[in-house]
Amino acid sequence: MTLVPWEGNEQPRIWETDAGVLNSIGLENIGVAVAIREKAPLWATWKVPVIVNIAGHTVDEYIEVARMVDPVEGIAAIEVNISCPNLERGSLEFGTSAVTAARLTSAVRTVTTLPLIVKLSPNVTDIVEIATAVAASGADALCVINTLRGTAIDVERRRFRLGRPAGGLSGPAIKPVALHMVHRVAHAVDIPVIGCGGICRWRDALEFIMAGATAVQVGTATFTDPDSMISIIDGIEAYVRQCDVADLGEIRGIL
Ligand SMILES: Cc1cc2nc3c(=O)[nH]c(=O)nc-3n(C[C@H](O)[C@H](O)[C@H](O)COP(=O)(O)O)c2cc1C
Repeated sequence: MTLVPWEGNEQPRIWETDAGVLNSIGLENIGVAVAIREKAPLWATWKVPVIVNIAGHTVDEYIEVARMVDPVEGIAAIEVNISCPNLERGSLEFGTSAVTAARLTSAVRTVTTLPLIVKLSPNVTDIVEIATAVAASGADALCVINTLRGTAIDVERRRFRLGRPAGGLSGPAIKPVALHMVHRVAHAVDIPVIGCGGICRWRDALEFIMAGATAVQVGTATFTDPDSMISIIDGIEAYVRQCDVADLGEIRGIL
């Protein structure tokens, strides 16, 4: 969700690789005002909490979106996207330096009392440095990780597969990277970490929980199997029953 509607990037925006997906969507969305007017009333009727993911070109744009979202019934939390690799300006620009990531987090924190999740990028030298700076600036939770920058080339047409020279890689290919980063971050901060990156099955989700994640996000898997999140929940329930785990806290961060 951004301050005004964004059209997103040139096509093609999706390329399926051997073990994942490259995308360069560029955060196409209808803008915060229309979303609040036309979508939030429906969200308010749902039993599950809705978390909105916000982005902007400038700190002021993030602040304004957060301010508008804050009082809306039907929105349970804000996830601040400082990790989209598909923009010329904004988002990842804030997420690649501990100083700018912290400044943006503090700024958004001042305009909302909603739970604040900050979504971090793997496209950095030291994710722990950024995670600790963001945690110290008022974030309630971290999401680790967004997509890894990558590309693909069509050798017959001698062109990039995407409409631009690079996109973000997601899906099974990035799971080991995400798992490692979650493990490092979860042991470095004292706020909850949401694990994300290549989670397709219940075993993947449990790996992230054992690495220290409090919750998980599932993205790419929902494209190939829209029921994947339900199977993941069912699989975790079966696992805890079978292995006599009374609470996921017993296995969270055991590694
Ligand atoms: C098509 C597509 C669109 C995405 N859009 C967003 C977005 O708007 N905001 C965001 O923070 N992450 C976005 N992501 C990143 C995912 O939320 C997730 O962090 C990443 O894909 C890794 O998880 P996965 O392997 O389960 O997909 C997008 C990913 C894909 C594939």
